[in-house]
Amino acid sequence: MFAFNFNKIIMPIFYGKAALIDFLNSIKTPNSTIGFVPTMGALHQGHLSLMQQSLAENNNTVVSIFVNPTQFNNPEDLKKYPRTLEADTQKIAHLDANIIVYAPTVDDIYEGKTVSQDFDFDGLENQMEGKFRPGHFNGVGTIVKRLFEIVSPTNAYFGEKDFQQLQIVKKMVRKTHLDVNIIGCNIYREANGLAMSSRNERLSASEREKAAIIYQTLLEAKEKFETQNCDEVKKWVTEVFDSNSIFDLEYFEIADEETLLPCINQSKDKNYRAFIAVFVNNIRLIDTISLK
Ligand code: PAJ
Repeated sequence: MFAFNFNKIIMPIFYGKAALIDFLNSIKTPNSTIGFVPTMGALHQGHLSLMQQSLAENNNTVVSIFVNPTQFNNPEDLKKYPRTLEADTQKIAHLDANIIVYAPTVDDIYEGKTVSQDFDFDGLENQMEGKFRPGHFNGVGTIVKRLFEIVSPTNAYFGEKDFQQLQIVKKMVRKTHLDVNIIGCNIYREANGLAMSSRNERLSASEREKAAIIYQTLLEAKEKFETQNCDEVKKWVTEVFDSNSIFDLEYFEIADEETLLPCINQSKDKNYRAFIAVFVNNIRLIDTISLK
């Protein structure tokens, strides 16, 4: 265990699983709970809001910071992913110095075999992000399962921003019979409505302002969905982005929240959600909204 000292704040940071497991065993009591927030670092207020929820609902909170190589379908993306461990630990320490940080090496997690396990997520993996990021969800399933085995959390917190990931993790837990509650958390937004993301830092001030249109369009799509069918709403969203040259729409989909299958004939018994991925100057942004 390494104690991190920032302005006299001492917090526990672990770089290896063996010491983390020993520490967690030493603080565990029969009824105590562990809340867990897995992240890839480059922390922003969205991540911190998950940690706040975990702190409020558990005796102990563990945050992992690990840029997981197996979930990157594009090697260039993996290389460019921001690694800001020192700034991240400072943010966590300021939130609550009792948070336990696990920042493993690739070897600590993968033990020399940096490959994904193959999962069957009952088709959830074939929609939207899965179509555009082959192998991504096998990588996510692999790392989340390993982290769960190491941390043994009572509750684990995931943002609805990555709604498909949240559903994939729930499915993985059900299929592998891991004993952990998966808790979906609200999307944390910037003042103009743009969903908070580490990628927002790469936008110019003007792009960041204009990107507010993504959430505004989702809100309007939700309104239209009360009176129009899925195809009409999809056509309208496509037109909005076609007429706006700084944006390149990758997909807009309306899907059943449970199966993630695209909506064809709207049914009253299903809960629908809109999903969007848009490029702004080669920076890929995603967002989602419940249509209930
Ligand atoms: P990362 O992108 O770092 O996100 C970590 C968690 O923060 C995810 O559950 C994500 O949905 C949540 N999050 C991100 N932006 C958010 C926002 N604006 N509001 C609320 N929650 C937000 O997602 C991953 O890492 C990885 O795939 C991981 C699960 C850690 C596996 O490697």
